[in-house]
Amino acid sequence: MSTLHALATMIIAIDGPAGSGKSTVARRLAAELGLTFLDTGAMYRAVTLAALERDVEPMDEHACGELAQSLRLVFDVDGRIRIDGKPGEPAIRSDEVTRWVSAVSAHPRVRAAIVPQQRSQAGRGLGIVAEGRDIGTVVFPSADVKFYLTASAEERARRRALERGEPERFHEFLADIQRRDHHDSTRHDSPLKQADDAILVDTDGTDADGVVAKLLEVVRGGRSG
Ligand code: DC
Repeated sequence: MSTLHALATMIIAIDGPAGSGKSTVARRLAAELGLTFLDTGAMYRAVTLAALERDVEPMDEHACGELAQSLRLVFDVDGRIRIDGKPGEPAIRSDEVTRWVSAVSAHPRVRAAIVPQQRSQAGRGLGIVAEGRDIGTVVFPSADVKFYLTASAEERARRRALERGEPERFHEFLADIQRRDHHDSTRHDSPLKQADDAILVDTDGTDADGVVAKLLEVVRGGRSG
C-alpha cells in the first residue's frame, strides 16, 4: 500500500478529558491530513439538547436511549452536527447542555445507539480523526494511531475562560471540569481512560500549533507506507 493511500484511510483516535484541546487539535489534524473529522462529543450533546427541548428526563435511561435511536444525526462538510436536518451549533455548547451531557452520555442505552453510528463513518472507507472519551478503548480499538491528550484541570479551566472571554468565571469552569472529569472517568460503561497503546500528550504550556505539530510528526513519522 502506498503511503498516501495508507494515510487516506487511516483512523486516528484522540481521547482525553473535557477542555484538553482535543476538538481544536483533531479538527486541524484532520484538515492537514485530508481526513474526515468526527466530533463524537457533539453526538452526545445533540441527544442531551433534544432531551432538554422535548422534556425527556436526562436521568431516564430508557427514554434517553429511545430518543438517541430516533434522532437523525449527520455531520455537514465542515464537521458540524445536524440534528434531524437542523444545525446543532451553537445550542449543543450551552451551559445547560454541558451541565447534563455527562449524565446522558453515561446511559448504556444511549451509547448503544450512538457508537454504531460512529463506527459506520469508518465503514465507509474514509480516513477519520475521531475525538472523544472512548475512541481508542471502545469505538475504534484497532485505530492506526491513538493519542491521549491531557492538561491540568486549572489549565483547562483557564483556557475555557479565555475562549469565552469570561475570566471572572474561572472557578465556576474549574468546578465544572472537575465534576465532568469525575463523572466521565468513573461511569460504568466506557469510562474515560487512556488505552494501553495510546500516546500520552501533556498539553500544559503548549499551544494548539505545538500540539498539532507533535501529532503530525508521530502520524507521518510512524508510517512507512
Ligand atoms: O468532548 P465534549 O465536551 O463535547 O463531550 C461532551 C460529553 O460527552 C462529555 O462530558 C462526555 C461525553 N462523551 C462521551 O461519553 N464519549 C465520547 N466519545 C465523547 C463524549
